[in-house]
Parts: sequence; C-alpha cells; structure tokens
Amino acid sequence: MCDFFCTFAANFNKSDMKKLLILACVAITLLACNQQPQSMENQAINTIMTRVSVREFTGEKISDAQIDTLLRAAMAAPSAINKQPWAFIVVTDEAKIAQLGDSLPYSRCSNHPACAIIPCGDLSKAIEGEMAAFWINDVSAATENLLLAAHAMGLGAVWTGLHPDMNRVKMVQRMLELPEHIVPLCVVPVGVPAEQPEVKDKYNPDNIRYIR
Ligand SMILES: Cc1cc2nc3c(=O)[nH]c(=O)nc-3n(C[C@H](O)[C@H](O)[C@H](O)COP(=O)(O)O)c2cc1C
Repeated sequence: MCDFFCTFAANFNKSDMKKLLILACVAITLLACNQQPQSMENQAINTIMTRVSVREFTGEKISDAQIDTLLRAAMAAPSAINKQPWAFIVVTDEAKIAQLGDSLPYSRCSNHPACAIIPCGDLSKAIEGEMAAFWINDVSAATENLLLAAHAMGLGAVWTGLHPDMNRVKMVQRMLELPEHIVPLCVVPVGVPAEQPEVKDKYNPDNIRYIR
C-alpha cells in the first residue's frame, strides 16, 4: 500500500492535480444533490400547505399502483409503541361505494370518487389496557398521510368522520361485513378532482404559546 502511494505521489504532476480537483468538485456536487434537503423539504411543505378537502370527483378510475402508493403512505405514519394498529378497507366496487354514499351522505361517496378507503383501528393490534385508545391517534396520523399523498399525486380526497359516532361505525361495520375488532375511523373517498377548492389560510398566531 505504502509503495503504491509513493509511486502515485512521485508521478503526480500539475495536470493530475487539475483532474483531481475537478473530480473532487463533481463528487461534492453529486453528494449535495443526493441529499436534496432544501428541495425535498419545500416540496413536502408545499404539499402540506396546499392540501384541501375535495368532495367532487370526475368518476375516472385510478390505478392499482396509485392506490398502493396511498396505502404505503398511510402505513408510513407514526404509531404509539409502533403498534401499527390499523387496517385499510379499499372499496372500488361501484355498488358498494353508492351504498356508502346513500347511507352516509356526508361521506361524499355519491360524488363519483374512484374508490373509498376506510382507515380502521385493528383492536387486536392495539395497546392493551387504558392506553388502548391510542389507536385513534395512530389511525388519524395514517389518514392524514393518506390525504397528503393523494394531494401530492394530483388526486382529491376528504376525511369524512365515523368514529366516535357509534351509529355510523356500526353501520359501516355491517355494510362492509367487518368483524367487531375492526373499527372504522372514517371514510375517505378518493378520486380525480372535479373541483379545485380554495386553499384556506388557517395560520393563527393566537394558537401558539412559546415557553422559552
Ligand atoms: C375528524 C374529521 C371529520 C370530518 N368529517 C367530514 C364529513 O363528514 N364530511 C365532510 O365533507 N368533511 C369532513 N371533514 C373535512 C373537514 O370539513 C375539513 O377538513 C375542514 O373543513 C377544513 O377544510 P380543508 O380540509 O379543505 O382544509 C372532516 C374532517 C375531520 C378531520
């Protein structure tokens, strides 16, 4: 190894030095591009700040790959003790979507979504004891990820509430033949947007208290 470096150094001339400097610059640029902290952050922040609830859809289908991406985004959410106590029911059957729309008008399922995704708590995977209700936080985080992913993909979606209204929860459990331990949190119709609602500026400094 030492011999190699001695020979290398002895044969080193100005032109080699130039090449080495160019190579180093290229390597540093590539490394910097690879990390992309600035552009990635801006893209994510932009998605968060421009998401809106979309309630009217064109009726166009979306691909299985798109649905797969939405579900992967949902399951990337944090969960208490990493329990991931969730299950996702994906309804693409038009008759079933219509049935959801008829029974739950506020679910917007009559407005021609491509599918309805129902994020559920899987109570068999939830923390035992008094912390069991953490599943609601976990599935809520997954639902928000799903909404953000839909927006990032140019799709529209809206969170429509079921839980804690147990009448709605039980109605959906019956309709989708879910077992007792699978508790639907909400219905998220997803599709190609047929409306472009205004982005709401909800920032309110009064909501913030710094403890410095
Ligand atoms: C827990 C929860 C329940 C909601 N339920 C409904 C619903 O039943 N129907 C509906 O159209 N939108 C529903 N929404 C969407 C809200 O109305 C919407 O997020 C809010 O008006 C803010 O608008 P934005 O999402 O466009 O920022 C719900 C949202 C949350 C978080």
